[in-house]
Amino acid sequence: MALIDGNQVAETIIAELKAHVASLKGRKPCLALVRVGDDPASVSYVRKKEKTAAEIGVESRVILPPVTISQGELEILIEGLNGDPTVDGILVQSPLPKPLNELAIFRRVSPDKDVDGFHTVNLGKLAQDDDSGFVSCTPAGIMELLARSKVDLAGKHVVVVGRSLIVGKPVALLALQKRAGANGTVTVCHSGTRDLPAITRQADVLIAAIGRPEFVTGDMVKPGAVVIDVGINRVTDPSRKTGYRLTGDVHFPSVEPKASLITPVPGGVGPMTVAMLMRNTVKAHALAHANR
Ligand code: GUN
Repeated sequence: MALIDGNQVAETIIAELKAHVASLKGRKPCLALVRVGDDPASVSYVRKKEKTAAEIGVESRVILPPVTISQGELEILIEGLNGDPTVDGILVQSPLPKPLNELAIFRRVSPDKDVDGFHTVNLGKLAQDDDSGFVSCTPAGIMELLARSKVDLAGKHVVVVGRSLIVGKPVALLALQKRAGANGTVTVCHSGTRDLPAITRQADVLIAAIGRPEFVTGDMVKPGAVVIDVGINRVTDPSRKTGYRLTGDVHFPSVEPKASLITPVPGGVGPMTVAMLMRNTVKAHALAHANR
């Protein structure tokens, strides 16, 4: 077994982006980060995005509406950012607190500034193999990690566990694309799948994105499989100062000995998501300039 070091790959990409941004003339790329309320995980993710942006030379604008903001008020806020020519990318941190309608908000973000790739137009472009849109950051990060780890999906059985808008569905579409590095045979499993372990055991590449701590155990994995763990779950741990520890969707101790390659949590897919967000922001900035 070997570990896929997401931190190292993300650092390489961040260094590439930093050099690129330094070479840009005029206004630097700008990313608006919208975080509603104070969900502790969201606070930490947005802080990380802000820090990485600063490292690259991307401007970030953090907007923190109160948890009481209404759907209409949040939509007006998004429209304001859509119309602001100094903002290139807009990210609304998920999950939004109840009763806000997250999908309606994702659809409000201008497709040209949708660095999360959650807008109908960008998901449609992904399904049509059209590169002109934005691909969601975590799925793009997974593909980049696989490519840079020399894992070619061509002809392989890729099993995705989870069908979310943020990860499961877009990563399945990416793995399926008829292009270099992809061209996999893709199965998507979910909470309604019958005898799920019988399917995961067929995976050459197993992508766990179900949002349940340590769901994938060693008996569900074929020897030699490549395992990508997308989960970041906070589980209570009184022995830690914080009172919790982070664990993936994969039970690492039983899966690691069977896998040929595996991503750790933390330090696997997570850092790649942030790197891809920065790449998308730089792309949005380039598109804004091209359209002028
Ligand atoms: N929450 C978890 N992952 C993501 C992501 O990629 N984008 C946004 N906006 N929220 C998230």
